[in-house]
Amino acid sequence: MALRLGDTAPDFEQDSTEGRVHFHEWLGNSWGVLFSHPADFTPVCTTELGVTAKLKDEFAKRNVKVIALSVDPVDSHKKWIEDINDTQKTTVNFPIIADADRKVSLLYDMIHPNASATQTVRSVFIIDPAKKIRLMLTYPASTGRNFDEILRVIDSIQLTEYNQVATPVNWKHGDDVVIVPALQDPEIIKQKFPKGYKALRPYLRMTPQPETKR
Ligand code: BEZ
Repeated sequence: MALRLGDTAPDFEQDSTEGRVHFHEWLGNSWGVLFSHPADFTPVCTTELGVTAKLKDEFAKRNVKVIALSVDPVDSHKKWIEDINDTQKTTVNFPIIADADRKVSLLYDMIHPNASATQTVRSVFIIDPAKKIRLMLTYPASTGRNFDEILRVIDSIQLTEYNQVATPVNWKHGDDVVIVPALQDPEIIKQKFPKGYKALRPYLRMTPQPETKR
């Protein structure tokens, strides 16, 4: 059955460029980003993996571990990493799953046969520390993903998780946020949002972005 938001991210064991990965154990108490790309030695993926490596500190700040996947074997991944490091001026610092038997790709529905019978599409799964899937994205092979957007979504999800606020259209870090409708107790609201809030409607209450407690 297809995966949905809120489902437990399926656990698996698979080889990677950093050894055998037991996924849930590897995640530990961190948040996780699992993302697939069509194949090794492809141009768009080379740029994506380079940027992901450069964002190491941004992911770490958010307590997020990142893991990539494609259906090529470990020795191919390792040769390709040399190219990524060289052309993108970085050092790949996260594991790339070698899903040659497509075990994980099938588990996460990353192969869309009407797009490609053999290659994974560009899927992204954001997984929380309880191992629940909090976001799923699917991009076509020819479109590189926007990793600033992935960080933005992580910020938004963590704000909701830890601060009971939601983020409005086109929100970016520092903009006002929305108090979640479920929060109604005036005392708790006062305590949680000492800077106050503006109620444009009873259901639309804007407040300055709190610092995310992680
Ligand atoms: C790629 O880099 O993965 C790619 C580029 C163009 C079309 C499809 C895939």
